[in-house]
Amino acid sequence: MRTIAHISDLHFGRVDDRVVEALVDDLNAFAPDLVIISGDFTQRAKKREFCDAKAFVGRLQAPWFAVPGNHDISFHHLFQRFFDPWRRYRRYIHREVEPVFEDDEIFVIGINTARRVALEFDWSHGRISEDQIVRTARRLARVPDHKFKIVVGHHPFLPPPYAPDTRVVGRSDEAMRMFERHGVRLALAGHLHRGYLRVVEPAAVDPRRAAPRAAGDAPLVVVQTASATSTRLRDEPNAYQRIQIEDGKPMIRARVWTGTGFDDAITVDPDTTQQLRAMA
Ligand SMILES: [Fe+2]
Ligand SMILES: [Fe+2]
Repeated sequence: MRTIAHISDLHFGRVDDRVVEALVDDLNAFAPDLVIISGDFTQRAKKREFCDAKAFVGRLQAPWFAVPGNHDISFHHLFQRFFDPWRRYRRYIHREVEPVFEDDEIFVIGINTARRVALEFDWSHGRISEDQIVRTARRLARVPDHKFKIVVGHHPFLPPPYAPDTRVVGRSDEAMRMFERHGVRLALAGHLHRGYLRVVEPAAVDPRRAAPRAAGDAPLVVVQTASATSTRLRDEPNAYQRIQIEDGKPMIRARVWTGTGFDDAITVDPDTTQQLRAMA
């Protein structure tokens, strides 16, 4: 059995300090095997914001695992943005922007979906490159079958079920097919500041699969979480998720800020429940 806390979009520089304090307490009381942080540590990638983010992760008693988000690249220092976009992230958070965590039961791999520049006005959108797909697939292929495989990115792999036109990470289709082919069971991300959960049932026949899975096999579950601490909310309170993995099956519970602390919102069984939001 493994327990994971999935938090995202902390946005130091624009946080509610009471929520930050309560989150640290709630995470340390939960004492998970791993805290996964899916990007946007800061609001504007400022030094002070990164210092606050560093202090936050320093207070976590559990091991933690992180990928950067689009807000973790400076928009104001263009030289740094183009030539050394992850300098501050590497200095204050972690030197590896695509980390790997592995123990006897789980394997977790990060994909850095944030981009320094894009061929469009809005540079906040994310992409996955062909190289990243090949690299991640190669790494996943070496993981023993019995381990529960988790992929972490910042930008969403699937849109909310209630807003299907929402933009997702570039090359998500290809990435999702690769995840399925390699038996990934959870894909975690943030960015939208919305919590939802979608279950991707294995397709019955797909010639692109290296190791076909039959209908009825364990599905890939895509999990998005709301912002843990930011005051920039999208009609949802601050929240994070507690994930328990037992006998190869994830149980996902949202912990939601109530105004005085974090509390359980709902327990979601991916076998029977499609949507976190509908029942929250
Ligand atoms: Fe964000
Ligand atoms: Fe973001």
